[in-house]
Amino acid sequence: MALHWPSEDIWQAVYPLLPDFTVEVLPEVDSTNSELMRRVRAGQTAPVLLVAERQTAGRGRLGRQWLSDGGTAGAALTFSVALPLVPPDWSGLSLAVGTSVAESLHPSIRLKWPNDLWLTEAEGDRKLGGILIETAAVAEQRMVVVGVGLNIGPRSAEGLATPPAWLAQLWPEATAPAALGRLAAPLLQTLLRFERTGFAPFRTAFEARDALRGRRVSVLGGSADALDGVACGVSPGGALLVQTDACIKEVTSAEVSVRPA
Ligand code: BTN
Repeated sequence: MALHWPSEDIWQAVYPLLPDFTVEVLPEVDSTNSELMRRVRAGQTAPVLLVAERQTAGRGRLGRQWLSDGGTAGAALTFSVALPLVPPDWSGLSLAVGTSVAESLHPSIRLKWPNDLWLTEAEGDRKLGGILIETAAVAEQRMVVVGVGLNIGPRSAEGLATPPAWLAQLWPEATAPAALGRLAAPLLQTLLRFERTGFAPFRTAFEARDALRGRRVSVLGGSADALDGVACGVSPGGALLVQTDACIKEVTSAEVSVRPA
């Protein structure tokens, strides 16, 4: 079934903030993040939102794959935004992005530091989506590529580290274009706000959806030894706060993964 993307509506809402902004939809690409990073490295610095109806080599954090179930167009929403950005501090950007996406879509969506969208229920944690942020310096500008992947319809758990959730479980009429229509303009506004302020003003909204707060967690990887403790929110800069027997530790490394223990 052909998908009808709200490209014009998104452009109308965003171009007053970003005059060179464009929206592009591709039927298929390896990865919207990879495609925009290639364009950025080739010198393209105009802000763009690129949607792929199908990704053949979607990427996640820490070199992982982002798998779209069966590659059916519209089964997942996969897109990336590239734009020049000069924030006072980059830390907490994925948390601000996650907060914006969750707030645009549903009150029940929770955020798992630093880049996952989760549904957390009595039966356990399930992953609805993820965020992949990459940056590149080009022509004396710092460009950011923010990629978002969201399951829209039912999908199997095969090959996934965390069982999947999908948006239609919360919003039965959800489609990939309708979800993009809700979240795109607020996301661009969030990125521009983050550029002015950094993470601090997003902290309260993040913490209202923090899936780890009060839970025992294991922090794996990074330079430090494995760390076990109780997650107790995030710092004004977006670091995960972990209460150990001795003290509260701030976890900032992009290289760590955090698991509820
Ligand atoms: C993660 O869960 O580790 C992050 C997943 C990010 C997936 C999105 S899908 C759109 C964009 N293109 C990619 O290749 N990755 C991101």
